[in-house]
Amino acid sequence: MDNRRMTILTINTEPYQDQLPGTSGLRKKVNIFKQLHYLENYIQSLFNTLPDHNGMTLVLGGDGRYYNNIAIDTILRMAAASGFARVLVGCNGLLSTPAASHLIRKNKAVGGIILSASHNPGGPEGDFGVKYNIANGGPAPEKFTDAIHSGACAITEYRTLEEQAPDISTVGIHKLGAMTVEVIDPVIDYAELMQHLFDYDAIRALFATGGFKMMFDAMHAITGPYAKHILEEELKAPDGTVINGIPKEDFGGGHPDPSLKNSPQLVEQVLTANGFDFGAASDGDGDRNLILGRGIFVAPSDSIAIMAANAHHLPGYRNGLAGVARSMPTSQALDRVADQLGIECYETPTGWKYFGNLLDCGRITLCGEESFGTGSDHVREKDGLWAALFWLNLIAVHQKPVAEIVQLHWQRFGRHYYSRHDYYFTNDDEANNLITALKGKLPGLTGQSFLGSTVTLADDFSYTDPIDNTVTGQQGMRIVFDNNSRIVMRLSGTGTHGATLRIYHERYEPDPELQNLDTQQTLTDVIAIAAEISGIHERSGKQRPDSIN
Ligand code: G1P
Ligand code: ZN
Repeated sequence: MDNRRMTILTINTEPYQDQLPGTSGLRKKVNIFKQLHYLENYIQSLFNTLPDHNGMTLVLGGDGRYYNNIAIDTILRMAAASGFARVLVGCNGLLSTPAASHLIRKNKAVGGIILSASHNPGGPEGDFGVKYNIANGGPAPEKFTDAIHSGACAITEYRTLEEQAPDISTVGIHKLGAMTVEVIDPVIDYAELMQHLFDYDAIRALFATGGFKMMFDAMHAITGPYAKHILEEELKAPDGTVINGIPKEDFGGGHPDPSLKNSPQLVEQVLTANGFDFGAASDGDGDRNLILGRGIFVAPSDSIAIMAANAHHLPGYRNGLAGVARSMPTSQALDRVADQLGIECYETPTGWKYFGNLLDCGRITLCGEESFGTGSDHVREKDGLWAALFWLNLIAVHQKPVAEIVQLHWQRFGRHYYSRHDYYFTNDDEANNLITALKGKLPGLTGQSFLGSTVTLADDFSYTDPIDNTVTGQQGMRIVFDNNSRIVMRLSGTGTHGATLRIYHERYEPDPELQNLDTQQTLTDVIAIAAEISGIHERSGKQRPDSIN
């Protein structure tokens, strides 16, 4: 369609006061987004926050969840009315988060809009979300999202086009008013990037023997087309390696959050039946990863540490690592590797946006979070499929099973037993009261002993960005003990209702004889101490967490 006619409409609107982005974009129930002008208000506030987008390129796509296409249509028309020169949109509105990040960088776009609520369930009853990434390809920093929020609280009008947006179900170039809409293959550029990072010949050789079996669970979310193309077509893994590979609006009714609970087929085939050597999964928008080996689950905090210790074996990281970073609640396994490599390990607040400056300035090459997020300087987002390819390449290099790679790592560096317990509160106030009470207790904790462990540090984590000196406070309570055990407590910033308290437990074990015990049992004391200090059982009325990771 060539649509050069352009009738800009200015529509009056009333502001909503709840358009405050959380840890990762604005996430709400679909029904909230369906309210009159709700999406338009937010998008116009976002466009208004950009200094000068006339003549600029914008990247646009989403994880294919319910409401994706309606939102894309709306945004295309608003972008044209706002003067963007070009929008690159994934065919059928699809783009994984890491692929979008790459496209922004590659095309020197001003930024990108990714429509996703990540691993939250989709469908008409599920969640929807809007994330904005800036020109470096990474999530917008807080001062930017705060500015969108302030604008949204006072918005009175938005601009759109009368004309209809073009059909985006096939690759092609269209005009929408004066703006070019380039509908692109969502996979090609990302696939090309991966080829530079990993040794495809070595990985192909693994599959060629016929003796190596892998399963990738795309969870009916965005990574299906990416994984099929890269694993099955380029790396010649057998057809059927990718399961649940067709993106669906409701993720097939599943919860697209890669975990042992949500990926039963993987658990059954790789962990229990031991039929497969390697298993991986990714989430709704393709940035999270779950890594399994025959009979072993690789905890994300261990995974990033093992990747850092081995990165120099891989083509993309042959020159070694500039430095590494982990979010504060992530275990300190990565710190031990950095120590031995003689490189810096930065501790940042939860959320990928805090890695952006460190990556941009070349301070770090790899980074990760305990929440199944791992990434590198190849994009400015965490990257699920990349993590799976990284592990495949490691297996090909070492010619050892995943379990052995992990065991050898623990023997060398020690093991950080680690587990996160989440408690859900329907009533936000109760969770906030718990946090307030905990903050009051912090100053008195240092020096106190609990079950034989003495507190050496108790604080509310605050981060000063070493590049731009921005200070981000109140990022969670850290309680560290003299035996290297650690407890972290913070409230989730991604939920769409109620409040979730996350309690992270960690205990260090240097003795190889004691590195294969049950995680929950080994952490019994740390868990009991966290419960005592927080009063979680009394305050939540629950004797057990709602989920254990
Ligand atoms: C959660 C994770 C965090 C991650 C974020 C976005 O945020 O804990 O590590 O960056 O999702 O994927 P939270 O709900 O804890 O604020
Ligand atoms: Zn995600």
